[in-house]
This record gives sequence, C-alpha cells and structure tokens, in this order.
Amino acid sequence: MKKKITVPEIRETKVNGNKFSLVTCYDYSFATLVEKSEIEMILVGDSLGMTMLGYSGTVGVTPDDIIHHGKAVRRGAPNTFIIGDMPFGSYNESIEQGIHTANRFMMEIGCDAIKLEGGKRSAAVVKAIVESGTPVCGHIGLTPQISAAMGGFKVQGKDAIAAKLLLEDAKAIEDAGAFMIMVEGVPSDVTSYIRKNINIPIIGIGAGVDCEVQAMVMHDLLGFTDWVPKFAKKYANIGEIAVEAFNAYSKEVKAEQFPTPQYSYNTKVEGLE
Ligand code: KIV
Repeated sequence: MKKKITVPEIRETKVNGNKFSLVTCYDYSFATLVEKSEIEMILVGDSLGMTMLGYSGTVGVTPDDIIHHGKAVRRGAPNTFIIGDMPFGSYNESIEQGIHTANRFMMEIGCDAIKLEGGKRSAAVVKAIVESGTPVCGHIGLTPQISAAMGGFKVQGKDAIAAKLLLEDAKAIEDAGAFMIMVEGVPSDVTSYIRKNINIPIIGIGAGVDCEVQAMVMHDLLGFTDWVPKFAKKYANIGEIAVEAFNAYSKEVKAEQFPTPQYSYNTKVEGLE
C-alpha cells in the first residue's frame, strides 16, 4: 500500500535533496490511477474551472466546486497527499473567511493542506490559517486568479527589480508560516535566486528544474488537448487515444459489428415464438 508523505517530509526536501512530484486531479477515476502511481501529491486545483467545467479561467470556481471534486479525489486516493486550492473570492474578503474556507477543505474533503495565491498581499491570511492548524502552501509568480490585473497569463519576474519583489513575496509567505511555496511562470534563474534565499521548499510549475517539487496539470501531462503551455510536457496522448476509441465504437455500431455474441446475454428463452 502507498505510504502517504507528511508535511515534515516535504519540508525536509529542502535539506535532503529528495524530489517529489504533484499532479492536479479532479475526479475519483483518475485519483485511483494517481494512487497506484509513484506521484506523491495531488492538487485539487481551481484549474478545474477550465479542465472540468469549460470556463475560460479560474475565477468563478467556488469552494463548493473544489469540495465536490475534492471529496471524489479523496475517495480514490486515500494515501496520496492532497492539497485543496482555495479559489478566488474564498479568502480575500477577510481573515475569518480564509480560515472558514480552509476549515471546510480540511473537514469536508479531508485535505492534507491548502494552497492560496499571493505574496505580501496574502501573508496575513496565510499566518492566520497556519495558526488555526492548517498547513498552507503559498503561490507566487504567475497567479491565474488575478491574471486580469496582471494583463493576462504572462511570465513574471522578468527583470532584476521584479525578481527582487518576487523574493520579498516568497519571504513574506515563509515568515507567515507556509510549509511550501508554489512558484509559477518564472524564469529558471529567478527561481534559483528565490530558492537560495528561502528556507521552505519550492514547488515549481513553469519555473525550471531547480525546485524541490514539480507540478503539472493532469490534462497537460496526459495530453487531453492538442495545445499545452510551453512548460508542460505531454507524457501521453490520451485525447487522440480516446477519440480513436470513440470512432472505432461508432463505426462498429453502424456496421452492426458491436455487440457480437461475446458481448451479449445468449440464454435461449423458451416460448418467444
Ligand atoms: O489550479 C491549478 O491547477 C494550479 C496550477 C498552477 C498547478 O494552481
């Protein structure tokens, strides 16, 4: 049986050189496959707005959406470390609101930790959630929930001043008590600069190789779509395989080649004539 990693084990990657991987996951079926794999962590990400609900961004995803999907993921992956992603509008009204959402994720999903976006701007709510007993992962750099304010999904930290501001954000989240920080969409050199100057592990996505943990969106990793972002590697072509299977099935139905007796109940029923 898979052994679930712990927050102290994640923290120790900063000194022992262990590398962990995380994939997003949003449903029971795929969670059972991640559970069977060697991947240590799942993020029930607000990217489910795009991957599962067809939204154009993450704004609009609610805590109830994350809880609905997260409960299914937990049922499929009881021994995988699960992080619940706090969506836009679920922690930026007040500290009490942030603690309330974090409590719901821990109690209703059975999360092992929560993640929320923002550096200095989110430090107070990170501190309060940590002090209330929930492990928190920060998220800086390209933060999709405020992509409108950032002028789109753009690489962050592209000059020395922006890199210094990112380090200040990372330090603010570390000082607030986060056990790990996600760095997204940042040049590799800037990630290394941040990594050298903080004492908590970095989970990178589009942030280069110099991170303790790497993250990928499942739909990119498995190749559900033709297009994936520059930083995402398709390890499979599930989209093509699925469409081929749908077409093979449809052709056989039209040609009356499916179902053959092998896929039918063939008991002879007396008296039908
Ligand atoms: O919701 C999400 O998928 C994320 C990614 C950056 C991993 O936060």
